Amino acid sequence: MKASSIANANIALIKYWGKRDRKLILPNNGSISLTLDSLNTVTTVEFDKKYNKDIFILNDREIKEGEELEKVSRHLDLIRKVGSIEIPAKVMSKNNFPTAAGLASSASGFTALALAAAKAAGKDLSSKELSILARQSGSGSAARSCVGGFVEWLKGEKKDGSDSYAVQIAKKEHWPEFRMITTVVSTLKKKVSSTTGMDQTVKTCPLYKAWVDSIPEDLEKVKRGILNKDFSLVGSVAEFNCLKLHAAMLTTRPALIYWMPATLEIIHSILSWRKKGLECYFTIDAGPQVKVICLDKDVQELIKRLKNINGVRKVIVCKPGTGPKLTDNHLF
Ligand code: PMV
Repeated sequence: MKASSIANANIALIKYWGKRDRKLILPNNGSISLTLDSLNTVTTVEFDKKYNKDIFILNDREIKEGEELEKVSRHLDLIRKVGSIEIPAKVMSKNNFPTAAGLASSASGFTALALAAAKAAGKDLSSKELSILARQSGSGSAARSCVGGFVEWLKGEKKDGSDSYAVQIAKKEHWPEFRMITTVVSTLKKKVSSTTGMDQTVKTCPLYKAWVDSIPEDLEKVKRGILNKDFSLVGSVAEFNCLKLHAAMLTTRPALIYWMPATLEIIHSILSWRKKGLECYFTIDAGPQVKVICLDKDVQELIKRLKNINGVRKVIVCKPGTGPKLTDNHLF
């Protein structure tokens, strides 16, 4: 059977960095994100005997070997187990934005894969079941793309990971004015993946314990800020959390320096604009792109200013978006 789905990327306001279980992909800390409406992945999956092995086509190019194909196959194995099937699958996936450059393509990708593959295997999963499955893909943050709006990925305590999944803090309609403007300063694939980078941080970073210890307070503040639509609280805590993450990255051995000159240009600009009264904040993941946190009323002015910064190749405005959906528009 063939099934297709569409899933949105998400960007964390409070970041996940470091695992307590590398096989089940259980995080050392909880995280909070916004599911975005403009960055998505469409995926079609077909399980069929006519394929003699798993086939993975990403953005019109067949991935014949390597880590990406292994991750997809491993994820298909989980679904084959859930659906009690033993045949290979063809997977075709398309992102409408740069892949693996710190724009959370793996989150939307693995959520779309989990939903389409489960359906193709004859399974209708709840959002909790989907989130637990998507989390185990290799991209833990995929757990959060299984839910729309403002989302918390619960750290969980249990060894089997049954209490570590995403829940909704607020629907997208709760705060429709909230925006994230994604800047694209480079479309090159990052040199160190999140998976490798966070393992190195856990092992070598002298600041890592302080990072983990600081998270409960950040989670509480951002959750409160979202529920009260307190933009200054959400923005300032998200920005501080991002800087703590990058402090840990920078003090990992070997150092994880994901920023590029244009990344710093944007950071300095945002700080100066904010000082002069234009309220906006930044957040950055394991890549050079800066996501500007702002409100709808300031979007046009910010686009104008961002486009004037040297090195900014593209800006994409994202609103709060929905969770994943099945679609009849198959890619093959
Ligand atoms: O889900 P992963 O393994 O791609 O790691 C995501 C890590 C960050 O994007 C830096 C933080 C986050 O919470 O999304």
